[in-house]
Amino acid sequence: MRPDTIILGIESSCDETAAAVLRADGTILADSVFSQLKEHAAFGGVVPEIAARAHLQHLPRLVADVLGKAGINYAALDAVAATSGPGLIGGLIVGASFAKGVALAHDLPFLAINHLEAHALTVRLPGLMPEGVPAFPYLLLLLSGGHCQCVLVEGLGRYRRLGTTLDDAVGEAFDKAAKLLGLPWPGGPHLERLAGAGDPGAVALPRPLLGRAGCDFSFSGLKTAVARALAQGQSRPADIAASFQAAVAAVLADRANHALEMAPGVTALVVAGGVAANGSVRRALDSVATARGLPMLAPPLRFCTDNAVMVAWAGLERLRHGATDSLAFNPRPRWPLAELSPPAG
Ligand code: KG4
Ligand code: ZN
Repeated sequence: MRPDTIILGIESSCDETAAAVLRADGTILADSVFSQLKEHAAFGGVVPEIAARAHLQHLPRLVADVLGKAGINYAALDAVAATSGPGLIGGLIVGASFAKGVALAHDLPFLAINHLEAHALTVRLPGLMPEGVPAFPYLLLLLSGGHCQCVLVEGLGRYRRLGTTLDDAVGEAFDKAAKLLGLPWPGGPHLERLAGAGDPGAVALPRPLLGRAGCDFSFSGLKTAVARALAQGQSRPADIAASFQAAVAAVLADRANHALEMAPGVTALVVAGGVAANGSVRRALDSVATARGLPMLAPPLRFCTDNAVMVAWAGLERLRHGATDSLAFNPRPRWPLAELSPPAG
């Protein structure tokens, strides 16, 4: 593939509408994310119908915007990639249909990107990580509001899920605990701020699945325990927040430790998703990796959370192997990583 190959990437699987123009040498020519937070805030969570309509409303403008910023028009593109699952079906249809339209009109290859694969490959974007690109295999902890899984990344298209959540995603747990504490949605960052004024040892909270075999996660019991501590009325909210955060960090560290035991020979512990922004979580995971002589790699936050650069990059990785998709590809609300396969080329 020529290093000056240019791809348009589109992300619309949840509540971020995003578009990016990326060159195969890793240069981000333009990158734009529209977060629908305001649209959903009043409802305390993402409303699928509102999300779909907002994607439809904002995507054309975002694509025009990134092409303008990149100083190109459609004729300069070599390919177009769109998140085509897993996610909310309305948004997936909007993004994938838009990309297919561009591909059809300009005779370009189309790439249907798995959102989880895009998160998994982000650290391979040339120049993104000061530590350099980790070699396969590496371990990915995806910690977001919608996803909570531990994935062994063995190669392009070769993923093994080692664990997942049995109930809530970790970001969802932060959001629910924050809501109980009366904080605005999404609550993760607010809870972290409140926790800064609290004592993490003040309130005894459970550590779900700690020490258990495997690396599955569970957070709903922790949320219930927060509700109970609040109802008892004997603890300061800041102490509850700090104790909750400490419990989550301890559980994540334990699970990551188990995962690393299950996957000998990995080159790094990679962390992605909005919860990777949390200082306590990062420190806990960093010490797990360091104790094993491994680097913990967390992409800069804007590439940790949902964005279109990661979609464009996953598109380039696949395009390099000629693994393009048919325009008949139907977006998939459910699309486990294990169902992907390595490109044949
Ligand atoms: O990856 P992300 O932006 O995407 C979605 O899942 O849509 O993750 C958002 C999640 C939310 O649940 C949010 O509360 C959480 O990440 N989050 C945090 C922090 N910043 C964002 N959780 C804990 N501490 C933070 N500083
Ligand atoms: Zn995501």
